[in-house]
Amino acid sequence: LFEGPWDFVWASTKIDDLPPMVGQEIAFAGRSNVGKSSLINALTRRNALARTSHTPGRTQQLNFFRQVEHEEPVGAGSQGSKRSREKPVPVYSLHAPTIVDMPGYGYAAVGKEKVAAWTRLIHDYLRGRANLMRVYVLIDARHGIKDVDGAVLETLDKAAVSYQVVLTKGDALKPADQTFMTEATFDEIKRRPAAFPEVLLTSSETGAGMPEFRAAIGRVLAE
Ligand code: GTP
Ligand code: MG
Repeated sequence: LFEGPWDFVWASTKIDDLPPMVGQEIAFAGRSNVGKSSLINALTRRNALARTSHTPGRTQQLNFFRQVEHEEPVGAGSQGSKRSREKPVPVYSLHAPTIVDMPGYGYAAVGKEKVAAWTRLIHDYLRGRANLMRVYVLIDARHGIKDVDGAVLETLDKAAVSYQVVLTKGDALKPADQTFMTEATFDEIKRRPAAFPEVLLTSSETGAGMPEFRAAIGRVLAE
């Protein structure tokens, strides 16, 4: 699943501007700066597939990334030797999965209007996407679940959209604290109806938890 290339294919700022529902989707949600875009890059082993930044509010749209089935050399079958140096054209299978990087929620400094617009977009998308197989709700391992996260979990529970909580930036904690936060977070979500009963601890920086995370996604997309 994560061996081949992935491509940016679409960006939406409005709920009526989503791409067609083709293939299965998984989405990454979380507070601003929690590490959504970094985790997508780590999963796909592409440094700059999703844009990251140390200042919150980097991702301002729903960004859709599709798995590339294979690449077709330009001018294949024709004579043009000049054209053969052009970039190959990506081909996507109808069943290719899509990863969705979302704007962060809860970052007041971008202004009230943007926060409201992003929050609406995020909640509307999460509620109404029939091909959305699972949402990964990212939580900073140092901070745990906050009220704004709780609101998103509530939306997902109400809409019966399956989600898994993933702790990010695990490298910022000592091993004992990593275990503590993983268990404490699990305790908080274990009674929620749509929550997958396992909390993953990851680090995009060290790669910790990434094989487990890739395997978990693989199982969801194989369902
Ligand atoms: P928005 O798009 O603004 O919502 O942010 P985001 O959730 O996409 O976060 P992004 O991936 O842009 O990362 C935010 C900051 O956290 C960057 O400075 C990253 O370098 C840092 N960061 C991301 N992942 C990790 C990690 O695993 N460990 C550490 N220590 N820092 C990380
Ligand atoms: Mg981002």
